[in-house]
Formats: sequence, C-alpha cells, structure tokens
Amino acid sequence: MTTMADVARSAGVSVATVSHVLNGTRPVLPHTRQAVLDAVEELGYTTNTLARSLVTARTRSIGLAVSAISNPYFTEILQGVEAAALEAGYSLLIADPHDDPEHERKVVQLLHERRVDGVIVAPSADPHGLLAYLGRHDVPAVLLDRLVDGAGTDGGPRFDQVCADNADPTSRLVTHLAGLGHRRIGLVAGRPGLSTTSERISGYRSGLAFAGLAYDGRLLVHGDSESAGAEQATEALLSLGEPPTALVTGNNAMTIGVLRALGAHGLSVPDDIALCCFDDFAWADLFSPRLTAIAQPGRDIGARAVHVLLERLAEPHRPARTVRLPCAFVHRTSCGCPSPSEEGTPS
Ligand code: HPA
Repeated sequence: MTTMADVARSAGVSVATVSHVLNGTRPVLPHTRQAVLDAVEELGYTTNTLARSLVTARTRSIGLAVSAISNPYFTEILQGVEAAALEAGYSLLIADPHDDPEHERKVVQLLHERRVDGVIVAPSADPHGLLAYLGRHDVPAVLLDRLVDGAGTDGGPRFDQVCADNADPTSRLVTHLAGLGHRRIGLVAGRPGLSTTSERISGYRSGLAFAGLAYDGRLLVHGDSESAGAEQATEALLSLGEPPTALVTGNNAMTIGVLRALGAHGLSVPDDIALCCFDDFAWADLFSPRLTAIAQPGRDIGARAVHVLLERLAEPHRPARTVRLPCAFVHRTSCGCPSPSEEGTPS
C-alpha cells in the first residue's frame, strides 16, 4: 500500500509538506503543491483515515440512528444529513433502532464504539436507556424530530434538539376544516409517548378551541404512527353512533391506513368525509382527490441537525438548544375546497 512517505519521496518533498497539501493545514507553494498532487495521482495514494484518526482523535464521521428509514419523511431527513455531512467533510454511519428502546441503546453504543465524532438520533417513545448512555459517555449528540424533556441543571434541555413545528400546523388543519363547516373533526394520532404525537394532539385541541368547538375524546384515536394501526383506529371512528365528518391524520403512514379504511367503507373523500394530513409526500398530489397536507422540512431538519452537531463539537460547553423549523400548508382538494391554490392560505 502506498504511504505518505512514498508520495513525499516521489515528489521530492518532506512528509510534513505532503500532509499540509492533503489536509490544507498550511499554505504550500503552487509548484510544490502540484508536484505532491501529481505524485498522489501517479502512485494512486489514498488517505488512511484510520491513521489520521489515531493522530487527531477524531474520525470525521457522524452516526445517524433513525427508525422507519423507508418512511419518505425520514428518507428526506437522511438526505439532508448526508448532504450536510459530506459538505463538511464527514462520512455517515447509519443505524435503524426500529423504535425499540433496547435496540436503540445498543445501536448508539455500536456507533460510539466505532468512535464517530457525534451522533444524531431520533429517539424512541422510551429513550431513558439511550439518554443515560449518551450522558454517561459524554457522547456529543443531537436529538432529532422527537423531543425529550431531559432537563439539565438550568432546567433547559440537556441535549441539542432539532424538530419541526407540530402544534400550530395541526391547529391550522383543524381551523381550516372548521371554516368549511365541519363540527365533528376526528384526529388519528400517532404513538403515545412521542413528542410529535403529543404536540399534534395539543395543536388539534387548540384548533378546536380556536374554532369554538368542544373537545370530544371519542373523536381522538391512536393509530400507533403506522398504516395498519391507523386503519384500525379509523374503523373505530367510523363505527361511532355519530362518526366524524372530517379527519386529520397524524403522519403520512397513517394517512395511507386511513384511506384504506375509508375505501373499505365505500366512503369518498371529500364528499362523504373530508381529509387533511400532517406530512406531505412526493405522490400526495397524485391521489384523487389531491391531499391537503402539512409539509415538514425534512431535508432542512437533517441538515440543521448536522450543523448543530458540528457547532457542539467546536464548542462542547455551550448551553444546549432546541431548533424548531416551520412547516408549510399545502392546500389541495381533499379538504373539500374546490380548486385551491397549491399553497394558498386556508380560510
Ligand atoms: N415524526 C414526525 N413525522 C413523521 C413521523 C414521525 O415519527 N413519521 C412520519 N412522519
């Protein structure tokens, strides 16, 4: 295997000069720099990152642990993380904790044992083992999408966190449906224990309150954040004596389950029942009717998580912070509006 010493010998310079050219650590005269690059090319030299890590105690790698990677929302996050990491010269190690607390702690330990410089994790509904591990080993970490209340000594969060705004956009879906005359608006909510679920529920409730509608607990069901759970939960809503005339779904996967259940009951959207969805996805405008949805900034969330992690690595002792990114209302026709503009302001 070609070494830096081979490159130095071939270019007629010192090993230190080769290192400065390759790592950009000091300016090098243009003709010397070119001689080094030519030797690198000619000898087929590639950087030995393991050797470099032994010297710098950094691996320039980030560990990413997100469940449901096949979900388009998390795929977008992954794309954002990957692009931002690459731009900063970091590589990625990816793990799927399968939303299982024990597995989550284990995969984060594995990433840490590979000596990633920091981790980005979307925590499960029971993240205690994960948080204890991160805290005990002082692992630089950014929590993504789901917030935890791990209060630090100052009462604030103990970890940097990056997520979408959940409550206001959900409230907006409810007030939009109420503005169209609906009085019985159901919510198919996600898995209990996730902050995304509780924040969307609180948005649902504040939307009802804002519209002057009473909260009726029978209209709120949990779909476990997944399609099959949402299908069952929708069945329960439809079997009520007075079923809802409009539904809000808590995420994209649950929207699929809700549509299955409505189809099985022969209900058409929006004539028989109106539908507004949290989470947009690439083919939401191919459904008939086209789905009115809240679009989360998945790529931006992923990229921001990387930036926050890099800031943490540069300044390990600065206070933790929570970054919340806004969502967009994508106004289509499943809500019952005849031909709304794509991102029009709902009534
Ligand atoms: N959080 C936020 N949005 C989502 C999720 C989630 O876990 N799943 C699908 N959309």
